[in-house]
Amino acid sequence: MKNVFILTGAGISAESGLKTFRDADGLWENFKVDDVASIEGFEKNPKLVHEFYNHLRVQMDKAMPNKAHIAISEFQKKNPDITVNVVTQNVDLLHEKAGTKNVLHMHGRIDETVCLNCGHVVKTLGNTQFDGVCEKCGAKNFLKPNIVFFGEMPMFMDEISDMLKHCDLFVAVGTSGVVYPAAGFVSQAKYYGAQTYLFNLEYTENNYYFDHQVMGKASETLPQFLEKLMF
Ligand code: OAD
Ligand code: ZN
Repeated sequence: MKNVFILTGAGISAESGLKTFRDADGLWENFKVDDVASIEGFEKNPKLVHEFYNHLRVQMDKAMPNKAHIAISEFQKKNPDITVNVVTQNVDLLHEKAGTKNVLHMHGRIDETVCLNCGHVVKTLGNTQFDGVCEKCGAKNFLKPNIVFFGEMPMFMDEISDMLKHCDLFVAVGTSGVVYPAAGFVSQAKYYGAQTYLFNLEYTENNYYFDHQVMGKASETLPQFLEKLMF
């Protein structure tokens, strides 16, 4: 076994104090998804969308990685001969804070802003505003948090598809499995011959393709599993 693919979702960051999306008291309880996470919502009220992510950025800046993020980073460090690909649906930077290398943020990153006029991406340190001016093309009223909204294509799909073809072990952590295409990765990995595991707090609907499901807090279940993994 030489190739491990780890897919993470909001559940891995829950124990770092960040809200998941769909659990009770989740991020979307006080907001309509269509208002703050769809391209139509952005077109209707970009100011609200910027405010929402400015608020989230402050929380994410403060958050620290938990044992599950750290276990992935240590696993990667301790196994230089194994390819460990980490693909996250999270826009927080907790994998990077834990020291994990080459993380692909398929739903974007909270620390980036994109110009919808020319595609230029800039690092975002403080708050962002829609009516800012793009440093590359000079356009006004085109800046958007570089986060993939419903109605947009996820990022890095070609690389991810290739990784899924070659993985021997597929591990999903803290994801409800309702948002595609990420929810479909497990079936692709299994089709190509990988063993598949899910680490989640509770059983999910979309579990048909998982060979093993480990229920419990990711900070407890994942370190135990990765420490014992032998190749
Ligand atoms: P969800 O909120 O849909 O699901 C979080 C999952 O994590 C649930 O199944 C919980 O049971 C589980 N969970 C909660 N706490 C946990 C813990 N301590 N340990 C293990 N599991 C735990 O979040 P995602 O599946 O990540 O997209 O949502 C997918 C996408 O929906 C997000 O990336 C977001 C949204 O559209 C964007 O923002 C672009
Ligand atoms: Zn521009």
